[in-house]
Amino acid sequence: MSIFDERRYLIPFRSQLLPQLFTDTLIVGSGVAGLRAALEAAKHGDVFVLAKESLDNSNSTWAQGGIAAATDASDSTEAHFEDTMRAGVGLCEPAAVRVLVEEGPREIEQLMRWGMRVDRKQDGSVSLGLEGGHGHPRILHSDGDATGRELMRALAAAARATAGIRLFDNCFAIDLCTDAKGRVAGALTWHPRYGLQVIWARATILAAGGAGQVYRETSNPRVATGDAIAMAWRAGAVVRDLEFMQFHPTTLYVAGAPRHLVSEAVRGEGAVVVDRTGTRIMAGRHPQEDLAPRDVVTRAIVEHLASSGDSHAFLDARAMGSAGFASRFPGLATMLAGYGIDGGSELIPIHPAAHYTIGGVETDLDGRTTRVGLYACGEVASNGVHGANRLASNSLLEGLVFGRRAVAAALKDSLPDPVPMQWESRVRTQVAGELDLGDVRSSLRSAMWRNVGIVRDGAKLRDCLDMFSFWGRYALGSVFETPEGWETQNLLTVGHLMTRAAAQRCETRGTHVRVDWPSEDSAGSFHISWRIGEESAQRSPVGAEAATR
Ligand code: SIN
Repeated sequence: MSIFDERRYLIPFRSQLLPQLFTDTLIVGSGVAGLRAALEAAKHGDVFVLAKESLDNSNSTWAQGGIAAATDASDSTEAHFEDTMRAGVGLCEPAAVRVLVEEGPREIEQLMRWGMRVDRKQDGSVSLGLEGGHGHPRILHSDGDATGRELMRALAAAARATAGIRLFDNCFAIDLCTDAKGRVAGALTWHPRYGLQVIWARATILAAGGAGQVYRETSNPRVATGDAIAMAWRAGAVVRDLEFMQFHPTTLYVAGAPRHLVSEAVRGEGAVVVDRTGTRIMAGRHPQEDLAPRDVVTRAIVEHLASSGDSHAFLDARAMGSAGFASRFPGLATMLAGYGIDGGSELIPIHPAAHYTIGGVETDLDGRTTRVGLYACGEVASNGVHGANRLASNSLLEGLVFGRRAVAAALKDSLPDPVPMQWESRVRTQVAGELDLGDVRSSLRSAMWRNVGIVRDGAKLRDCLDMFSFWGRYALGSVFETPEGWETQNLLTVGHLMTRAAAQRCETRGTHVRVDWPSEDSAGSFHISWRIGEESAQRSPVGAEAATR
Protein backbone atom coordinates (compact mmCIF):
# COMPACT_ATOMS: atom_id res chain seq x y z
CA MET A 1 0.00 0.00 0.00
CA SER A 2 1.20 3.50 -0.75
CA ILE A 3 1.60 6.43 1.59
CA PHE A 4 -1.73 7.72 0.28
CA ASP A 5 -3.40 4.88 2.18
CA GLU A 6 -1.96 5.69 5.58
CA ARG A 7 -4.39 7.26 8.05
CA ARG A 8 -2.66 10.46 9.05
CA TYR A 9 -3.29 14.11 9.75
CA LEU A 10 -1.26 16.57 7.73
CA ILE A 11 0.30 17.93 10.90
CA PRO A 12 0.79 16.19 14.22
CA PHE A 13 -1.18 17.90 16.96
CA ARG A 14 -2.80 17.46 20.33
CA SER A 15 -6.26 18.96 20.50
CA GLN A 16 -6.07 19.95 24.14
CA LEU A 17 -3.10 22.18 23.44
CA LEU A 18 -4.95 24.20 20.84
CA PRO A 19 -7.65 26.85 21.18
CA GLN A 20 -11.03 25.19 20.75
CA LEU A 21 -14.23 26.74 19.38
CA PHE A 22 -17.71 25.22 19.27
CA THR A 23 -20.58 25.66 16.83
CA ASP A 24 -23.68 23.80 15.72
CA THR A 25 -22.79 23.63 12.04
CA LEU A 26 -19.35 24.01 10.50
CA ILE A 27 -19.32 24.67 6.77
CA VAL A 28 -16.01 24.28 4.97
CA GLY A 29 -16.28 26.38 1.83
CA SER A 30 -18.03 29.61 0.96
CA GLY A 31 -19.27 29.21 -2.62
CA VAL A 32 -22.90 28.77 -3.60
CA ALA A 33 -23.36 25.41 -1.84
CA GLY A 34 -21.68 26.62 1.36
CA LEU A 35 -23.65 29.84 1.64
CA ARG A 36 -26.94 28.16 0.72
CA ALA A 37 -26.32 25.59 3.43
CA ALA A 38 -25.38 28.33 5.90
CA LEU A 39 -28.60 30.25 5.29
CA GLU A 40 -30.60 27.10 5.97
CA ALA A 41 -28.57 26.02 9.00
CA ALA A 42 -28.84 29.46 10.61
CA LYS A 43 -32.56 28.87 11.08
CA HIS A 44 -31.65 26.23 13.64
CA GLY A 45 -28.42 27.28 15.35
CA ASP A 46 -24.98 28.85 15.06
CA VAL A 47 -23.02 28.44 11.87
CA PHE A 48 -19.35 28.94 11.06
CA VAL A 49 -18.45 29.29 7.38
CA LEU A 50 -14.78 28.98 6.41
CA ALA A 51 -13.53 30.71 3.26
CA LYS A 52 -10.03 29.65 2.27
CA GLU A 53 -9.34 33.13 0.93
CA SER A 54 -12.25 35.52 0.48
CA LEU A 55 -15.88 35.10 -0.54
CA ASP A 56 -15.00 36.58 -3.95
CA ASN A 57 -12.62 33.80 -4.84
CA SER A 58 -14.49 30.63 -5.70
CA ASN A 59 -15.56 28.72 -8.76
CA SER A 60 -19.10 29.92 -8.02
CA THR A 61 -18.12 33.58 -8.32
CA TRP A 62 -16.37 32.88 -11.60
CA ALA A 63 -19.38 31.15 -13.20
CA GLN A 64 -20.38 32.94 -16.35
CA GLY A 65 -23.07 30.94 -18.12
CA GLY A 66 -25.75 30.79 -15.49
CA ILE A 67 -28.21 28.62 -13.65
CA ALA A 68 -30.22 25.98 -15.49
CA ALA A 69 -33.79 25.42 -14.28
CA ALA A 70 -37.14 24.76 -15.88
CA THR A 71 -38.79 28.05 -14.94
CA ASP A 72 -40.53 28.86 -18.20
CA ALA A 73 -44.08 27.69 -18.94
CA SER A 74 -42.96 26.24 -22.27
CA ASP A 75 -40.27 24.14 -20.54
CA SER A 76 -40.66 21.24 -18.11
CA THR A 77 -38.73 19.54 -15.36
CA GLU A 78 -39.12 16.34 -17.38
CA ALA A 79 -37.28 17.91 -20.33
CA HIS A 80 -34.53 19.16 -17.97
CA PHE A 81 -34.33 15.66 -16.47
CA GLU A 82 -33.98 14.07 -19.93
CA ASP A 83 -31.26 16.51 -21.05
CA THR A 84 -29.28 15.96 -17.83
CA MET A 85 -29.55 12.18 -18.11
CA ARG A 86 -28.50 12.20 -21.77
CA ALA A 87 -25.49 14.44 -21.11
CA GLY A 88 -24.39 12.16 -18.23
CA VAL A 89 -23.78 9.20 -20.59
CA GLY A 90 -25.38 6.49 -18.46
CA LEU A 91 -23.79 7.42 -15.15
CA CYS A 92 -26.33 9.84 -13.67
CA GLU A 93 -28.34 8.62 -10.71
CA PRO A 94 -31.94 9.14 -11.88
CA ALA A 95 -33.25 9.79 -8.34
CA ALA A 96 -30.63 12.51 -7.77
CA VAL A 97 -31.37 14.17 -11.11
CA ARG A 98 -35.09 14.09 -10.28
CA VAL A 99 -34.41 15.92 -7.02
CA LEU A 100 -32.25 18.48 -8.82
CA VAL A 101 -34.70 19.41 -11.55
CA GLU A 102 -37.80 19.32 -9.36
CA GLU A 103 -36.45 21.29 -6.41
CA GLY A 104 -34.45 23.67 -8.64
CA PRO A 105 -37.23 26.09 -9.59
CA ARG A 106 -38.13 26.61 -5.90
CA GLU A 107 -34.52 27.49 -5.18
CA ILE A 108 -34.60 30.08 -7.95
CA GLU A 109 -37.66 31.70 -6.37
CA GLN A 110 -35.82 31.78 -3.05
CA LEU A 111 -32.83 33.44 -4.73
CA MET A 112 -35.06 36.17 -6.08
CA ARG A 113 -36.39 36.72 -2.56
CA TRP A 114 -32.79 37.15 -1.41
CA GLY A 115 -32.42 39.87 -4.01
CA MET A 116 -30.60 38.19 -6.88
CA ARG A 117 -31.07 40.12 -10.13
CA VAL A 118 -31.38 38.17 -13.38
CA ASP A 119 -31.35 39.55 -16.90
CA ARG A 120 -34.78 40.30 -18.30
CA LYS A 121 -36.23 41.08 -21.68
CA GLN A 122 -37.85 44.40 -22.45
CA ASP A 123 -41.26 43.02 -21.49
CA GLY A 124 -39.91 42.15 -18.03
CA SER A 125 -39.88 38.39 -18.53
CA VAL A 126 -36.71 36.51 -17.61
CA SER A 127 -34.23 36.20 -20.47
CA LEU A 128 -33.28 32.53 -20.81
CA GLY A 129 -30.13 31.37 -22.59
CA LEU A 130 -29.27 28.16 -24.36
CA GLU A 131 -26.14 26.07 -23.72
CA GLY A 132 -24.68 22.79 -24.90
CA GLY A 133 -26.83 19.70 -24.30
CA HIS A 134 -29.99 21.65 -23.44
CA GLY A 135 -32.95 21.12 -25.74
CA HIS A 136 -34.64 24.27 -24.46
CA PRO A 137 -33.47 27.75 -23.46
CA ARG A 138 -33.48 27.53 -19.65
CA ILE A 139 -30.32 29.26 -18.42
CA LEU A 140 -30.93 32.25 -16.16
CA HIS A 141 -28.07 34.73 -16.30
CA SER A 142 -27.09 38.05 -14.74
CA ASP A 143 -25.29 41.04 -16.24
CA GLY A 144 -24.78 38.99 -19.40
CA ASP A 145 -21.94 36.79 -18.28
CA ALA A 146 -21.50 37.51 -14.57
CA THR A 147 -24.10 35.19 -13.09
CA GLY A 148 -21.82 33.73 -10.44
CA ARG A 149 -20.79 37.16 -9.25
CA GLU A 150 -24.40 38.32 -8.84
CA LEU A 151 -25.49 35.06 -7.25
CA MET A 152 -22.67 35.24 -4.74
CA ARG A 153 -23.39 38.92 -4.05
CA ALA A 154 -27.00 38.08 -3.19
CA LEU A 155 -26.11 35.04 -1.06
CA ALA A 156 -23.28 36.82 0.74
CA ALA A 157 -25.52 39.80 1.50
CA ALA A 158 -28.19 37.48 2.89
CA ALA A 159 -25.60 35.57 4.93
CA ARG A 160 -24.06 38.76 6.34
CA ALA A 161 -27.51 39.97 7.36
CA THR A 162 -28.30 36.72 9.16
CA ALA A 163 -27.63 36.53 12.87
CA GLY A 164 -25.90 33.32 13.75
CA ILE A 165 -23.70 33.04 10.65
CA ARG A 166 -20.02 33.80 11.21
CA LEU A 167 -17.89 34.06 8.09
CA PHE A 168 -14.17 33.41 8.54
CA ASP A 169 -12.02 34.69 5.68
CA ASN A 170 -8.53 33.30 5.05
CA CYS A 171 -9.23 30.25 7.17
CA PHE A 172 -7.66 27.02 5.92
CA ALA A 173 -9.32 23.76 6.98
CA ILE A 174 -6.47 21.27 7.35
CA ASP A 175 -8.13 18.07 8.52
CA LEU A 176 -11.41 16.76 9.85
CA CYS A 177 -11.60 15.94 13.55
CA THR A 178 -13.13 12.84 15.02
CA ASP A 179 -14.62 13.06 18.51
CA ALA A 180 -14.55 10.59 21.38
CA LYS A 181 -17.60 8.82 19.94
CA GLY A 182 -15.74 8.22 16.71
CA ARG A 183 -17.75 10.49 14.46
CA VAL A 184 -16.65 13.48 12.41
CA ALA A 185 -17.22 16.52 14.58
CA GLY A 186 -15.37 19.51 13.19
CA ALA A 187 -12.02 20.45 11.74
CA LEU A 188 -8.52 21.56 12.54
CA THR A 189 -8.03 24.98 10.98
CA TRP A 190 -5.33 27.56 10.46
CA HIS A 191 -5.64 31.32 10.18
CA PRO A 192 -2.74 33.70 9.57
CA ARG A 193 -3.66 35.70 12.68
CA TYR A 194 -4.95 33.02 15.05
CA GLY A 195 -2.81 30.07 13.97
CA LEU A 196 -4.08 26.54 14.59
CA GLN A 197 -7.53 26.07 16.13
CA VAL A 198 -9.92 23.18 16.56
CA ILE A 199 -13.52 23.97 15.63
CA TRP A 200 -15.89 21.40 17.11
CA ALA A 201 -19.32 21.09 15.49
CA ARG A 202 -22.36 18.87 15.68
CA ALA A 203 -22.53 18.73 11.89
CA THR A 204 -19.68 19.34 9.44
CA ILE A 205 -20.58 20.17 5.85
CA LEU A 206 -17.98 20.08 3.10
CA ALA A 207 -18.73 22.62 0.38
CA ALA A 208 -15.22 23.52 -0.63
CA GLY A 209 -15.39 22.97 -4.39
CA GLY A 210 -13.23 20.95 -6.73
CA ALA A 211 -9.69 20.28 -7.77
CA GLY A 212 -9.18 21.92 -11.17
CA GLN A 213 -5.74 23.12 -10.07
CA VAL A 214 -4.46 19.56 -10.27
CA TYR A 215 -4.22 20.18 -14.04
CA ARG A 216 -1.79 22.50 -15.77
CA GLU A 217 -4.57 23.84 -18.00
CA THR A 218 -7.62 24.86 -16.00
CA SER A 219 -10.35 27.47 -15.92
CA ASN A 220 -10.44 27.25 -12.10
CA PRO A 221 -9.25 29.83 -9.57
CA ARG A 222 -6.09 29.09 -7.61
CA VAL A 223 -8.07 28.01 -4.54
CA ALA A 224 -9.45 24.91 -6.31
CA THR A 225 -6.87 22.50 -4.90
CA GLY A 226 -9.15 19.65 -3.84
CA ASP A 227 -8.50 20.16 -0.11
CA ALA A 228 -11.90 18.88 1.01
CA ILE A 229 -11.70 15.73 -1.11
CA ALA A 230 -8.27 14.99 0.33
CA MET A 231 -9.29 15.61 3.95
CA ALA A 232 -12.45 13.50 3.56
CA TRP A 233 -10.26 10.72 2.15
CA ARG A 234 -7.88 10.95 5.10
CA ALA A 235 -10.89 10.84 7.45
CA GLY A 236 -12.07 7.58 5.89
CA ALA A 237 -15.03 8.84 3.82
CA VAL A 238 -15.69 7.03 0.55
CA VAL A 239 -14.79 8.94 -2.61
CA ARG A 240 -16.41 8.12 -5.93
CA ASP A 241 -15.94 8.53 -9.69
CA LEU A 242 -12.87 10.73 -9.30
CA GLU A 243 -11.72 9.75 -12.80
CA PHE A 244 -14.36 12.08 -14.22
CA MET A 245 -12.98 15.59 -14.63
CA GLN A 246 -14.94 17.74 -17.02
CA PHE A 247 -12.91 19.62 -19.61
CA HIS A 248 -14.51 22.81 -20.90
CA PRO A 249 -14.10 23.02 -24.68
CA THR A 250 -13.57 26.75 -24.96
CA THR A 251 -11.06 28.41 -22.68
CA LEU A 252 -8.87 31.24 -23.92
CA TYR A 253 -5.63 30.08 -25.52
CA VAL A 254 -3.22 32.99 -25.41
CA ALA A 255 0.40 32.47 -24.41
CA GLY A 256 0.97 33.66 -20.87
CA ALA A 257 -2.71 34.26 -20.08
CA PRO A 258 -4.73 32.21 -17.61
CA ARG A 259 -7.17 29.83 -19.27
CA HIS A 260 -10.12 32.21 -18.96
CA LEU A 261 -13.47 30.59 -19.60
CA VAL A 262 -15.19 31.64 -22.81
CA SER A 263 -18.72 30.74 -21.83
CA GLU A 264 -20.73 28.09 -23.58
CA ALA A 265 -23.45 30.74 -23.70
CA VAL A 266 -21.46 32.33 -26.56
CA ARG A 267 -22.19 29.24 -28.63
CA GLY A 268 -25.76 29.45 -27.33
CA GLU A 269 -25.93 32.82 -29.08
CA GLY A 270 -24.74 31.30 -32.37
CA ALA A 271 -20.93 31.22 -32.21
CA VAL A 272 -19.22 28.19 -33.79
CA VAL A 273 -15.91 26.39 -33.27
CA VAL A 274 -13.61 26.59 -36.30
CA ASP A 275 -10.04 25.71 -37.19
CA ARG A 276 -7.45 28.09 -38.59
CA THR A 277 -8.83 27.67 -42.12
CA GLY A 278 -12.31 28.67 -40.92
CA THR A 279 -13.65 25.11 -41.27
CA ARG A 280 -16.33 24.29 -38.71
CA ILE A 281 -15.21 21.49 -36.40
CA MET A 282 -18.66 20.46 -35.12
CA ALA A 283 -20.49 20.41 -38.46
CA GLY A 284 -21.81 16.88 -39.01
CA ARG A 285 -20.32 15.56 -35.74
CA HIS A 286 -23.51 15.62 -33.68
CA PRO A 287 -27.15 16.53 -34.31
CA GLN A 288 -26.77 19.56 -31.99
CA GLU A 289 -23.45 20.53 -33.66
CA ASP A 290 -21.79 23.32 -31.60
CA LEU A 291 -24.43 22.91 -28.91
CA ALA A 292 -23.71 19.23 -28.39
CA PRO A 293 -22.92 18.25 -24.78
CA ARG A 294 -19.58 19.50 -23.55
CA ASP A 295 -17.74 16.17 -23.70
CA VAL A 296 -18.66 15.75 -27.37
CA VAL A 297 -17.38 19.21 -28.33
CA THR A 298 -14.20 18.79 -26.30
CA ARG A 299 -13.40 15.45 -27.88
CA ALA A 300 -14.07 16.77 -31.38
CA ILE A 301 -11.67 19.67 -30.83
CA VAL A 302 -8.96 17.44 -29.39
CA GLU A 303 -9.26 14.93 -32.23
CA HIS A 304 -9.19 17.72 -34.81
CA LEU A 305 -6.06 19.25 -33.28
CA ALA A 306 -4.35 15.85 -33.17
CA SER A 307 -5.05 15.18 -36.84
CA SER A 308 -4.27 18.70 -38.07
CA GLY A 309 -1.24 19.29 -35.86
CA ASP A 310 -2.67 22.70 -34.87
CA SER A 311 -2.06 23.93 -31.35
CA HIS A 312 -5.53 25.38 -30.83
CA ALA A 313 -8.89 26.12 -32.42
CA PHE A 314 -11.03 29.26 -32.54
CA LEU A 315 -14.46 30.42 -31.55
CA ASP A 316 -16.14 32.44 -34.25
CA ALA A 317 -18.67 34.85 -32.73
CA ARG A 318 -18.37 37.39 -35.52
CA ALA A 319 -22.02 37.06 -36.51
CA MET A 320 -22.81 38.97 -33.31
CA GLY A 321 -20.68 41.98 -34.30
CA SER A 322 -18.61 44.01 -31.85
CA ALA A 323 -21.52 45.89 -30.31
CA GLY A 324 -23.74 42.80 -30.05
CA PHE A 325 -20.96 40.78 -28.40
CA ALA A 326 -20.08 43.54 -25.94
CA SER A 327 -23.69 44.06 -24.94
CA ARG A 328 -24.51 40.36 -24.38
CA PHE A 329 -21.10 39.43 -22.90
CA PRO A 330 -19.68 42.57 -21.31
CA GLY A 331 -17.28 40.77 -18.96
CA LEU A 332 -15.91 38.55 -21.72
CA ALA A 333 -15.54 41.51 -24.10
CA THR A 334 -13.49 43.38 -21.51
CA MET A 335 -11.37 40.34 -20.67
CA LEU A 336 -10.64 39.68 -24.38
CA ALA A 337 -9.88 43.35 -25.00
CA GLY A 338 -7.14 42.98 -22.38
CA TYR A 339 -5.40 40.62 -24.82
CA GLY A 340 -6.11 42.83 -27.84
CA ILE A 341 -9.00 40.68 -29.11
CA ASP A 342 -12.37 42.06 -30.18
CA GLY A 343 -14.61 39.03 -29.60
CA GLY A 344 -17.34 40.27 -31.93
CA SER A 345 -15.16 40.93 -34.94
CA GLU A 346 -12.16 38.61 -34.54
CA LEU A 347 -11.68 34.90 -34.02
CA ILE A 348 -11.11 33.93 -30.36
CA PRO A 349 -8.27 31.39 -29.85
CA ILE A 350 -9.49 28.53 -27.65
CA HIS A 351 -8.44 25.14 -26.27
CA PRO A 352 -10.13 22.74 -23.81
CA ALA A 353 -9.07 22.93 -20.15
CA ALA A 354 -10.01 21.23 -16.88
CA HIS A 355 -13.16 22.86 -15.56
CA TYR A 356 -15.30 20.85 -13.15
CA THR A 357 -14.53 17.98 -10.78
CA ILE A 358 -17.42 15.59 -11.35
CA GLY A 359 -16.34 12.90 -8.91
CA GLY A 360 -15.91 13.60 -5.23
CA VAL A 361 -17.01 12.57 -1.75
CA GLU A 362 -19.78 10.03 -2.09
CA THR A 363 -23.13 11.09 -0.67
CA ASP A 364 -26.70 9.92 -0.62
CA LEU A 365 -29.54 12.09 -1.92
CA ASP A 366 -29.36 14.21 1.23
CA GLY A 367 -25.67 14.98 1.25
CA ARG A 368 -24.77 12.35 3.87
CA THR A 369 -21.30 10.94 3.35
CA THR A 370 -20.23 7.53 4.62
CA ARG A 371 -18.90 9.11 7.85
CA VAL A 372 -21.45 9.97 10.53
CA GLY A 373 -21.52 13.73 11.15
CA LEU A 374 -20.03 14.58 7.76
CA TYR A 375 -22.06 15.94 4.82
CA ALA A 376 -21.01 17.21 1.40
CA CYS A 377 -22.66 19.34 -1.27
CA GLY A 378 -21.66 21.20 -4.42
CA GLU A 379 -18.62 20.36 -6.51
CA VAL A 380 -16.85 18.43 -3.73
CA ALA A 381 -19.71 15.91 -3.57
CA SER A 382 -20.50 12.94 -5.76
CA ASN A 383 -24.26 12.59 -5.43
CA GLY A 384 -24.93 11.27 -8.92
CA VAL A 385 -26.42 14.31 -10.65
CA HIS A 386 -23.55 14.84 -13.08
CA GLY A 387 -22.95 11.31 -14.31
CA ALA A 388 -19.97 11.00 -16.62
CA ASN A 389 -20.40 14.48 -18.05
CA ARG A 390 -22.13 17.41 -16.32
CA LEU A 391 -24.81 19.25 -18.24
CA ALA A 392 -23.88 22.93 -18.65
CA SER A 393 -25.06 25.30 -15.90
CA ASN A 394 -26.38 22.52 -13.68
CA SER A 395 -23.72 23.08 -11.03
CA LEU A 396 -24.95 26.29 -9.40
CA LEU A 397 -28.37 24.69 -9.20
CA GLU A 398 -26.86 21.59 -7.63
CA GLY A 399 -25.13 23.71 -4.97
CA LEU A 400 -28.42 25.37 -4.07
CA VAL A 401 -30.57 22.25 -3.98
CA PHE A 402 -28.10 19.96 -2.21
CA GLY A 403 -26.78 22.68 0.11
CA ARG A 404 -30.27 22.98 1.54
CA ARG A 405 -30.78 19.22 1.64
CA ALA A 406 -27.52 18.57 3.49
CA VAL A 407 -28.68 20.81 6.32
CA ALA A 408 -32.12 19.18 6.39
CA ALA A 409 -30.42 15.78 6.68
CA ALA A 410 -28.14 16.92 9.50
CA LEU A 411 -31.16 18.18 11.43
CA LYS A 412 -33.01 14.95 10.85
CA ASP A 413 -30.01 12.98 12.08
CA SER A 414 -30.21 15.03 15.31
CA LEU A 415 -26.52 14.75 16.05
CA PRO A 416 -25.50 15.16 19.67
CA ASP A 417 -22.94 17.70 20.83
CA PRO A 418 -19.40 16.64 20.00
CA VAL A 419 -17.41 15.01 22.75
CA PRO A 420 -14.01 16.66 22.45
CA MET A 421 -11.12 14.35 22.93
CA GLN A 422 -7.40 14.51 23.05
CA TRP A 423 -5.65 12.91 20.23
CA GLU A 424 -2.43 12.95 18.38
CA SER A 425 -1.81 12.44 14.75
CA ARG A 426 -0.30 9.11 13.91
CA VAL A 427 1.84 10.80 11.32
CA ARG A 428 5.47 9.74 11.36
CA THR A 429 7.25 13.02 11.20
CA GLN A 430 10.20 13.18 8.99
CA VAL A 431 12.63 16.01 8.65
CA ALA A 432 11.75 17.56 5.35
CA GLY A 433 14.57 17.60 2.88
CA GLU A 434 14.79 20.82 0.96
CA LEU A 435 11.72 20.80 -1.25
CA ASP A 436 10.66 23.24 -3.95
CA LEU A 437 6.87 23.05 -3.53
CA GLY A 438 6.29 25.06 -6.71
CA ASP A 439 8.25 22.49 -8.65
CA VAL A 440 6.29 19.57 -7.13
CA ARG A 441 3.05 21.28 -8.10
CA SER A 442 4.04 22.14 -11.61
CA SER A 443 5.42 18.63 -12.21
CA LEU A 444 2.18 17.12 -10.92
CA ARG A 445 -0.02 19.46 -12.95
CA SER A 446 1.93 18.79 -16.14
CA ALA A 447 1.86 15.02 -15.60
CA MET A 448 -1.89 15.12 -14.95
CA TRP A 449 -2.53 17.19 -18.05
CA ARG A 450 -0.40 14.95 -20.26
CA ASN A 451 -1.53 11.58 -18.91
CA VAL A 452 -4.80 11.93 -17.00
CA GLY A 453 -6.42 14.46 -19.32
CA ILE A 454 -8.98 13.98 -22.06
CA VAL A 455 -7.11 11.19 -23.84
CA ARG A 456 -5.73 8.43 -21.56
CA ASP A 457 -3.81 5.22 -21.88
CA GLY A 458 -3.56 2.46 -19.26
CA ALA A 459 0.22 2.10 -19.38
CA LYS A 460 0.77 5.83 -18.91
CA LEU A 461 -1.74 5.94 -16.06
CA ARG A 462 0.19 3.18 -14.29
CA ASP A 463 3.50 4.99 -14.85
CA CYS A 464 1.97 8.11 -13.36
CA LEU A 465 0.79 6.21 -10.32
CA ASP A 466 4.31 4.95 -9.67
CA MET A 467 5.69 8.44 -10.06
CA PHE A 468 3.07 10.03 -7.75
CA SER A 469 3.68 7.32 -5.15
CA PHE A 470 7.37 8.16 -5.18
CA TRP A 471 6.71 11.90 -4.87
CA GLY A 472 4.20 11.14 -2.10
CA ARG A 473 6.88 9.33 -0.07
CA TYR A 474 8.76 12.53 0.62
CA ALA A 475 6.06 15.20 0.05
CA LEU A 476 3.42 13.52 2.22
CA GLY A 477 5.91 12.23 4.74
CA SER A 478 7.02 15.78 5.54
CA VAL A 479 5.26 18.22 7.84
CA PHE A 480 4.57 21.72 6.54
CA GLU A 481 3.44 24.80 8.38
CA THR A 482 1.81 26.83 5.62
CA PRO A 483 -1.18 26.51 3.28
CA GLU A 484 1.20 26.15 0.33
CA GLY A 485 2.57 22.92 1.78
CA TRP A 486 -0.85 21.51 2.77
CA GLU A 487 -2.32 22.40 -0.62
CA THR A 488 0.55 20.65 -2.37
CA GLN A 489 -0.05 17.54 -0.27
CA ASN A 490 -3.77 17.70 -1.06
CA LEU A 491 -3.13 18.17 -4.78
CA LEU A 492 -0.82 15.17 -4.77
CA THR A 493 -3.39 13.09 -2.92
CA VAL A 494 -6.24 14.04 -5.25
CA GLY A 495 -4.06 13.62 -8.35
CA HIS A 496 -3.09 10.17 -7.14
CA LEU A 497 -6.73 9.23 -6.42
CA MET A 498 -7.92 10.51 -9.80
CA THR A 499 -5.21 8.58 -11.60
CA ARG A 500 -5.91 5.44 -9.62
CA ALA A 501 -9.61 5.64 -10.49
CA ALA A 502 -8.81 6.45 -14.12
CA ALA A 503 -6.64 3.32 -14.32
CA GLN A 504 -9.55 1.27 -12.97
CA ARG A 505 -12.07 2.62 -15.45
CA CYS A 506 -11.31 0.52 -18.49
CA GLU A 507 -13.69 2.21 -20.89
CA THR A 508 -14.21 5.37 -22.87
CA ARG A 509 -17.09 7.33 -21.42
CA GLY A 510 -18.19 10.94 -21.05
CA THR A 511 -15.34 13.28 -20.25
CA HIS A 512 -12.44 11.03 -21.25
CA VAL A 513 -11.21 8.71 -23.97
CA ARG A 514 -9.17 5.56 -23.22
CA VAL A 515 -7.12 4.74 -26.30
CA ASP A 516 -6.70 1.17 -25.03
CA TRP A 517 -10.44 0.81 -24.25
CA PRO A 518 -12.14 2.78 -27.02
CA SER A 519 -15.76 1.90 -26.18
CA GLU A 520 -18.09 1.84 -23.22
CA ASP A 521 -17.92 -1.20 -20.94
CA SER A 522 -20.42 -3.71 -22.26
CA ALA A 523 -21.25 -4.80 -18.70
CA GLY A 524 -23.18 -1.53 -18.21
CA SER A 525 -22.60 1.61 -16.23
CA PHE A 526 -21.05 1.54 -12.80
CA HIS A 527 -19.50 3.85 -10.24
CA ILE A 528 -15.99 3.40 -8.90
CA SER A 529 -15.63 4.15 -5.22
CA TRP A 530 -12.78 3.83 -2.79
CA ARG A 531 -11.96 4.27 0.88
CA ILE A 532 -8.54 4.77 2.43
CA GLY A 533 -6.83 1.50 3.23
CA GLU A 534 -8.90 -0.60 0.81
CA GLU A 535 -6.80 -2.69 -1.54
CA SER A 536 -9.05 -2.12 -4.50
CA ALA A 537 -11.98 -0.08 -5.68
CA GLN A 538 -15.62 -1.08 -5.32
CA ARG A 539 -17.77 -1.11 -8.42
CA SER A 540 -21.46 -0.41 -7.94
CA PRO A 541 -24.10 -0.29 -10.64
CA VAL A 542 -26.00 2.92 -11.27
CA GLY A 543 -29.13 2.90 -9.13
CA ALA A 544 -27.59 1.10 -6.14
CA GLU A 545 -27.96 3.02 -2.92
CA ALA A 546 -25.04 5.37 -2.29
CA ALA A 547 -23.24 6.23 0.95
CA THR A 548 -24.10 3.02 2.73
CA ARG A 549 -20.66 1.48 3.19
C1 SIN B 1 -19.95 28.28 -19.10
O1 SIN B 1 -20.41 29.40 -18.95
O2 SIN B 1 -19.65 27.79 -20.18
C2 SIN B 1 -19.70 27.45 -17.88
C3 SIN B 1 -20.96 27.10 -17.24
C4 SIN B 1 -20.83 25.80 -16.55
O3 SIN B 1 -19.72 25.32 -16.35
O4 SIN B 1 -21.86 25.20 -16.24
